[in-house]
Amino acid sequence: MSILDVKFVQGFIRMCNDGWEQGWHERNGGNLSYRMKPEEVEEVKSFFTQEGEWKEIDTSVPKLAGEYFMVTGSGKYFRNVILDPADSACIIELDEKGENYRIRWGLVNGGRPTSELPSHLMNHEVKKEITGGKHRVIYHAHPTNVIALTFVLPLKDEVFTRELWEMATECPVVFPDGIGVVGWMVPGGRDIAVATSELMKQYDVAIWAHHGMFCSGEDFDLTFGLMHTVEKSAEILVKVMSMRPTKLQTIEPQNFRDLAKDFHVTLPEKFLQEKEA
Ligand code: 13P
Ligand code: ZN
Repeated sequence: MSILDVKFVQGFIRMCNDGWEQGWHERNGGNLSYRMKPEEVEEVKSFFTQEGEWKEIDTSVPKLAGEYFMVTGSGKYFRNVILDPADSACIIELDEKGENYRIRWGLVNGGRPTSELPSHLMNHEVKKEITGGKHRVIYHAHPTNVIALTFVLPLKDEVFTRELWEMATECPVVFPDGIGVVGWMVPGGRDIAVATSELMKQYDVAIWAHHGMFCSGEDFDLTFGLMHTVEKSAEILVKVMSMRPTKLQTIEPQNFRDLAKDFHVTLPEKFLQEKEA
């Protein structure tokens, strides 16, 4: 038995590879983190080979004190995760204050967890609280069509949500709370982590202008599926906008209200208002 046979480790590796195959992870683009269950920590503890030194997270996440995460490494390529997970990813432990981490497994050839660790952990902290511990996956990718749209659509939650909802009938059912947008910011630090985690209080999806997207979900399937659904919708929108300056027909506000009723979702009215000319 190897740690690589454990179910959550397999799920983590598969998700990295699926993202690579979608073309969302050029070079070292993107990162993934998974908040492990207590029984999963027990399951893999015997494989821990390291008691690395404590390092600062660069932010504080007290509600995640003592938790363990599987995380991709900074500068590591998603395309390599499947070939050598122990080189590309790691398991980290947080201290009792939620201010420092140490590596317990992985990154065997050196390195550190993703530079977006502050964003991942602050998003995890918000989502753990709001979902009563259900959300465990935070995923950052660089999907082409979503990024392209951040150059031509106003950087407003209402605009991105409504435009992407309109592109596929499943969208309002898959992300009924909508999408948040962060204007361009320097990545990799606490400031962008604070801005993103603020949006995660309302949404499961946050777009970083001219950079990429963050998704939060309960498990690997749901979180990958969310990223996939939003990016597919963005691809349709890019095609529609490339074919015609305006849509000839679309899903109308009343259609969304009818859909919400039948599919038992609540769609905030702020996304269904008349669009400004
Ligand atoms: P890392 O290689 O540090 O994970 O950074 C990749 C990235 O996408 C930064 O936003
Ligand atoms: Zn990025």
